[in-house]
Amino acid sequence: MAEVRRTVIELLGQLGSSREARQYLKQFSRIEESRFAVVKVGGAVLQEDIDELAAALAFLHRLGLTPIVLHGAGPQLDEAMAEAGVPVRKHDGLRVTTEAVMAVARPVIYRANATLVDALEARGVRARGILHGVFNARLADPENLGLVGQIDSVELDPVRSAVGAGALPVVACLGESPGGQVMNINADIATRELVWTVRPYKVIFLTGTGGLLDQNGRIISAISISGDYEHLIAQDWVHSGMQLKLAQIKDMLERLPPETSVSITSASKLTRELFTHTGAGTLIRRGERIDWFDVIPGERAAALESMLEDSFGRRLRPDWRHGRELQGILLAESGRAAALIARGVDGIPYLDKFVVTPEAQGEGLAAALWQILRARCPRMYWRSRAGNPIAGWYLQQAHASFRRGEWIVHVIGVDDFGLLERLVEDAHSRDSGWEEDGFES
Ligand code: ARG
Repeated sequence: MAEVRRTVIELLGQLGSSREARQYLKQFSRIEESRFAVVKVGGAVLQEDIDELAAALAFLHRLGLTPIVLHGAGPQLDEAMAEAGVPVRKHDGLRVTTEAVMAVARPVIYRANATLVDALEARGVRARGILHGVFNARLADPENLGLVGQIDSVELDPVRSAVGAGALPVVACLGESPGGQVMNINADIATRELVWTVRPYKVIFLTGTGGLLDQNGRIISAISISGDYEHLIAQDWVHSGMQLKLAQIKDMLERLPPETSVSITSASKLTRELFTHTGAGTLIRRGERIDWFDVIPGERAAALESMLEDSFGRRLRPDWRHGRELQGILLAESGRAAALIARGVDGIPYLDKFVVTPEAQGEGLAAALWQILRARCPRMYWRSRAGNPIAGWYLQQAHASFRRGEWIVHVIGVDDFGLLERLVEDAHSRDSGWEEDGFES
């Protein structure tokens, strides 16, 4: 435990925010050990980034987290094939694996696996290379593909036994038939099947680019399948490779629990991705519904109150809802984000509370909620404390902001001066509902 502490401190120094890091460590540690994460490592990362990779995985291991690592060996195999003078052929995007190809591939895959296991052990991390016994397969299309396997079932015993022994499982993409015929398995398909069987909390793809890129070559931070998918794949800058990747991830997430998320990042950014809200890479979630209710649904009121109290770190007065003229509430399916809208001056909505749990902020839920809120309320006003960390963001969103003392009142969609004045007055006089603070937020 003392060692873990020390590691955490080291981590915090590296990232800056101790609260966030501790929160994620707690969250990841709550999950059953072998269900924390499946990490898919591309063959290129093994070749080019092995030190960063081993360091990042060793770090997780010292924190008591045991990801299941699955790796490909595509570029290594292409090189070896070129050397051996065996031509590379693909059929429907899959590598045609003749006997001759398999003869070259097998040792290459074994070596790629050993490279990672050795790099981990050199850092004092127990690791176990798992080359066989996980993917039970049959020949997918022997005529066209040769020894390419189609997975029938996934056997987790070898993985669980490694995790149980405190070793990081490093799984290769090879399958076998019941009779012992070894087959080549496409790494994306192997990842999908492994993930469906393990049902991990995180699915992590480590790539050289470290995320999905937008039209300007910048990493897209968060994608919600329910909110962004249709729009995204319709963009002309989304090339076919990215379309395929997104479709595969969508498919994968649809058969997993809602809390599971996919992160695409690089070896060097993995720690930051996992232990901060903003992350470093692309986070993809299935996404959740955000619903409008005219009144706070009775069965969700208690959860909403405690979420507000936890997020703001203060207590609500028992009578806080008294005298509040609510116009409605936007509430995320999971209950981790909400916007309370009150009836304001001249029927203009007053944004009474806007709250997103820290964990959900990293998932882009705040942006999703804000977007829906804006669509629903072309005009609205609200207030924030000047010292509030979100104040800067509010200033950007508002069309006009008025500071008085420690308060700022923000307004959207109103330019009549008389009306603006009344909105500002009204915002200042509103009851926050918080204990010991009467008419302030
Ligand atoms: N640390 C959190 C996680 O791994 C949030 C990551 C957010 N990442 C992002 N690219 N927006 O689940």
